Amino acid sequence: MAAMALSISTVGVVGLGAMGSGIAQLALEAGFDTVGHEVDLARAEAARDRIAHFLTRKVEKGQLDQAVRDDAVGRLRLTTDLADLAGCEVVIEAAFEDLAVKHQLFRELEATVGAEAILATNTSALSVTEIASVLERPERAVGMHFFNPAPLMPLVEIVRAERTAEDVFEAAFELGGRLGKTPIRCTDTPGFVVNRVLIPLLNDCVRILDETGVTPADLDAGMQHGAGWPMGPCALLDLVGADVHVHASEALYEKLREPRMAPPPRLVRMLQAGKLGRKTGEGFYTYT
Ligand code: CAA
Repeated sequence: MAAMALSISTVGVVGLGAMGSGIAQLALEAGFDTVGHEVDLARAEAARDRIAHFLTRKVEKGQLDQAVRDDAVGRLRLTTDLADLAGCEVVIEAAFEDLAVKHQLFRELEATVGAEAILATNTSALSVTEIASVLERPERAVGMHFFNPAPLMPLVEIVRAERTAEDVFEAAFELGGRLGKTPIRCTDTPGFVVNRVLIPLLNDCVRILDETGVTPADLDAGMQHGAGWPMGPCALLDLVGADVHVHASEALYEKLREPRMAPPPRLVRMLQAGKLGRKTGEGFYTYT
C-alpha cells in the first residue's frame, strides 16, 4: 500500500457534525474531492452551510480568493448512502462515539471501498484497535484524531493501532500534513496523548470550581491570564460540549481507573439538565 500516500484524490468523511464538517472543510481547502456522509440530508446540508459560511468569512477577511472558495465548496458531494464512498482512497469516520455504531460503519465501509483504501477514525476516547477488530483487514485502519475546532487547531494525532500497517500509518501521517496539520505519532493508549493530559486537567478545573467557590468567569480569566491558555477551561468545555467530554471522561476512567479521569458530578448534572454548552445555548455560560 506504500504508493497510496501520493495517490489520494478523494477523501470521504462519515458524520458531518462539528468534527466531521471541520475535517471535510480541511479536505476541501487542501484540494481534495470530498464526499460527506450523514444519516439524513438535512444534517448534511447544514454541514455544507457551515463550511460555506466559514470559507466565506475567510474571503471577507482576505485570507482566501472567492474563486478558490467557490471551487472548494463545489468539490463537496453530500450523500446519505455509504455506497457513494466507494471511490474514496481514504475515509475518515467522525460519527457518534459509540463502539457499536463504529463497528457497523467500519463493516459497511470495508464492503464498499476499494481493497487498498484506508479507513481512519477520528475517535477521541475509544480504542482504534477495538474499532478495527471487525475488519477483515484491520491493517488498513488508523486513528486520525483532530481537535475542536478542527479547521483552527493545528494538531492531528495519528494513532497506530495494534495491527495498523506501516504504510497505512505513514500515509495517514502524510495526509495529516496535506490537510495543513501538525501530525504527531501516537500509539493506541487511552486518550492517546493530548486527551490523556487534558481530560483529567479539565475535570480538575470543574472540581476546583466547587472546592473554591470561584466563578467560571474568574477561573477562566485565571487560566487565560495566569497560565496562557487561549481560552479558559469552562469556555473550552462549553465549546467541546458536556456530552462529548463526559463520554470521553467515562471511557478513560473505565480503562485507567484513575479517580481524576471520572467525570465531575457537576458536569454530569449539567449533561442531565441538557446544559451541554454552545450547542444548546447554555453551559457554564449562556449563548444567544
Ligand atoms: N470551524 C471553522 N472555522 C471557524 C470555527 C469552526 N468551528 N470557529 C471559528 N472559525 C473561524 C471563524 O471564521 C473565525 O473568524 P470570524 O469570527 O471573524 O468569523 C475565525 O475562525 C477565528 O475565530 P476566533 O476569533 O474565535 O479565533 P481565536 O483566535 O479566538 O481562536 C480558538 C479560537 C482556536 C478556538 C482558540 O480559542 C483556542 O485555541 N482554544 C482552545 C481550543 C482547544 O483547546 N481545543 C481542543 C479541545 S479538546 C478536543 O478537541 C479533544 C477532543 O477529543 C474532544
